[in-house]
Amino acid sequence: MNSISISRRKFAQLLSAGAACAVVKPALSLAKSAPEVKSQPASPLTRIVRLSSNENPYGPSPHALKAMTDSFNVACRYPDEAAALLSEKLATLNSVNANQILLGDGSGEILKLCADTFTGAQRKLVAGDPTFEAILQHATVNGAEVVKVPLTDHFAHDLSKMGAVANAGLVYICNPNNPTASFTPKNELTDFISKTSPQTIILVDEAYFHYADNPDYDSVIPLVKDYPNLIVARTFSKIYGMAGLRCGYAVAQSQAIAQLRSHQSWDSVNIMAVAAATASLSDPDQVTNGRRLNQETRTFVTTQLDAMDYKYIPSQANFVMIDVKRPVLPLIKALKERNVEVGRLFPALPTHMRLTIGKKAEMEAFLSAFHQVLA
Ligand SMILES: Cc1ncc(COP(=O)(O)O)c(C=O)c1O
Repeated sequence: MNSISISRRKFAQLLSAGAACAVVKPALSLAKSAPEVKSQPASPLTRIVRLSSNENPYGPSPHALKAMTDSFNVACRYPDEAAALLSEKLATLNSVNANQILLGDGSGEILKLCADTFTGAQRKLVAGDPTFEAILQHATVNGAEVVKVPLTDHFAHDLSKMGAVANAGLVYICNPNNPTASFTPKNELTDFISKTSPQTIILVDEAYFHYADNPDYDSVIPLVKDYPNLIVARTFSKIYGMAGLRCGYAVAQSQAIAQLRSHQSWDSVNIMAVAAATASLSDPDQVTNGRRLNQETRTFVTTQLDAMDYKYIPSQANFVMIDVKRPVLPLIKALKERNVEVGRLFPALPTHMRLTIGKKAEMEAFLSAFHQVLA
């Protein structure tokens, strides 16, 4: 994998050499590029209020930004040592061994690896409806039948119906679920996992774990030790604000991790993303601040929606699914014409709009455009 092998200690030394370099010569990297950036025409991203992809508007931790700057001088190296360091940190954080962690190029890669490894012509994918569709597409390409099971009236996964599907290779449970921002209670999930045949793999996608605070919600990572067929996906794209950097991971027993790894490209996670993710984990404020800001702004928005008499699904995430009481597609289009991007259509809920919680000013811009398009 890595033609020039460097030890982990050496990697840390290289990073600190990079740090020293950044202190001595800031003009080289930062000052030179700043005027160029200013002279560019305004990026379309700066004009558009982007509330469509459940990104974290506050961005990465300052620790992550510094770690990336410090890692410029190891950009010429393969990421092996840096990836091993991050895996060790994640293993400690999740009380597992490092061989129970697999890093991915975003958790999207973990989802794809699960579809590639555990679905096929004779092995169906079972998923909620609606849910995050990426894995449905991967399983279909892999020749698998996809069975969509509607969520319950409370927008939880209907686990008894999902468990009743024959020849399931993989059951995908997104918790909290995208696009509904709802959750499946821990006790129901625990019971489901204990009853599922070991031949069927259960993938629990916890991309929005950090935003959930309902007492009946919890991660299933502690169950991994008891179930060889349980895989949990996590990401640095949401609370850690690193969607553009691409880093996610799986937690599972070592055998399942080895199976996934055998389908993965070598060195698929880049060294800057790994450095940023590693540094984020040692920033105690990133998660608490992200959670607090999201909650405050989400409450601001839902209070306005209450006043307008619009119902929404109670949210355990950084987005909210609003019942707009009419087909949502024309509204999505009308908002886009006013430079406000909201989530795409989810066919199972054609009168619901998925709205990402951005900064307060962005939500004010949304509310103003929303009032206009409804008028
Ligand atoms: C539920 C869920 N899982 C996975 C992903 C993929 O995230 P990433 O590949 O950025 O880690 C997303 C992205 O929005 C998501 O909503």
